[in-house]
Amino acid sequence: MTGASHVPAQAAATLPTGIPMQDPALADRIAQRMAAVDAALDAATRSADQLADDAGRHLVAAGGKRFRPLLTLLAGELGDGAVPELVDAAVVVELTQVASLYHDDVMDSAPMRRGAPSAHQVWGNTVAILVGDLLFARASALVAGLGPEAVVLQSRTFERMCLGQLHETIGPRDGEDAVDHYLQVLSDKTASLLATSARLGAMFGGCPPEVVEAVTAYGEKVGLAFQLADDVLDITSTGAESGKTPGTDLREHVPTMPVLLLRRSVERGEGTPADADLLARLDGDLSDDAALAAVVADLRDHDVLSRTRELAHRWAQEAAAELAPLPEGPVRQAFADLADALADRTV
Ligand code: IPE
Ligand code: IPE
Ligand code: MG
Ligand code: MG
Repeated sequence: MTGASHVPAQAAATLPTGIPMQDPALADRIAQRMAAVDAALDAATRSADQLADDAGRHLVAAGGKRFRPLLTLLAGELGDGAVPELVDAAVVVELTQVASLYHDDVMDSAPMRRGAPSAHQVWGNTVAILVGDLLFARASALVAGLGPEAVVLQSRTFERMCLGQLHETIGPRDGEDAVDHYLQVLSDKTASLLATSARLGAMFGGCPPEVVEAVTAYGEKVGLAFQLADDVLDITSTGAESGKTPGTDLREHVPTMPVLLLRRSVERGEGTPADADLLARLDGDLSDDAALAAVVADLRDHDVLSRTRELAHRWAQEAAAELAPLPEGPVRQAFADLADALADRTV
């Protein structure tokens, strides 16, 4: 949507996520502010140092859905959506997102991101990690201008994201249910930033406390749906659609919900011999392309995938239920439509 600042009246417009928005006037305002966010992101990622400049602008320039800024701008529309702080807040959450992606791609050995080679592929792990840190620093400087409440919110979110990634790496403690543990991981590593994105929007839009709380709860639950859909995408998407290499999590043995569900059923003795065989292959060496393609194909046809999709739908419904305190209107409708579409997203 970058650069699309005018949406003809009467036409259903499209959000940056590819989701249609029913109210053209709202879509037009969001598109204009998103263009301002993109310009500010470009400015915020520039550096005098040539390497920092090239590597720091790499992922923002590659694109992305701008889903977190969208939540901020939409939530702002529940109050005064034109205040300039909303653009800064949207930039802060996208910078936080992008910085975490530089680090995540190192941890997950992901070769591709946003349709481009990941930063560590181009410049190596050290540069990718440092540039992620540099972008976190840029986000901190910007959020300082938004005041202490925003600073505390961003730091607590950042902490939750780190803990989520840490707990994902460590796995459940002895006796802890692996699926419950994983849901907490998703909540911390992903939902925390979506909740904060929406919260900052409602805060700077000047919304009453019950609206601020409602969009925060919505963001948290929609975040669970969003990340569960991401687990499905790792198995079902083509790289051309998602901009990421399919099967990356499987190859690196990063836990995802479909695999956890399969493991649980095999461990409980409820699985078929084919399930046990699939799990053994998932736990084995998947560096060979044919071996990876085979497990991806088997998981695509397995009911653990549809059960993960169902879980995503359930979280999306719970997110939509949090919208009850919001005034009826196009913004609430857009949030509801977003929740509806997220669980089945293809990008
Ligand atoms: C990727 O987020 C990381 C997750 C939390 C799944 P997105 O799917 O929003 O990625 P971009 O920002 O569009 O690249
Ligand atoms: C990314 O999680 C979460 C953060 C960046 C904090 P994933 O590793 O599951 O996301 P993708 O699939 O690489 O986008
Ligand atoms: Mg990853
Ligand atoms: Mg990861």
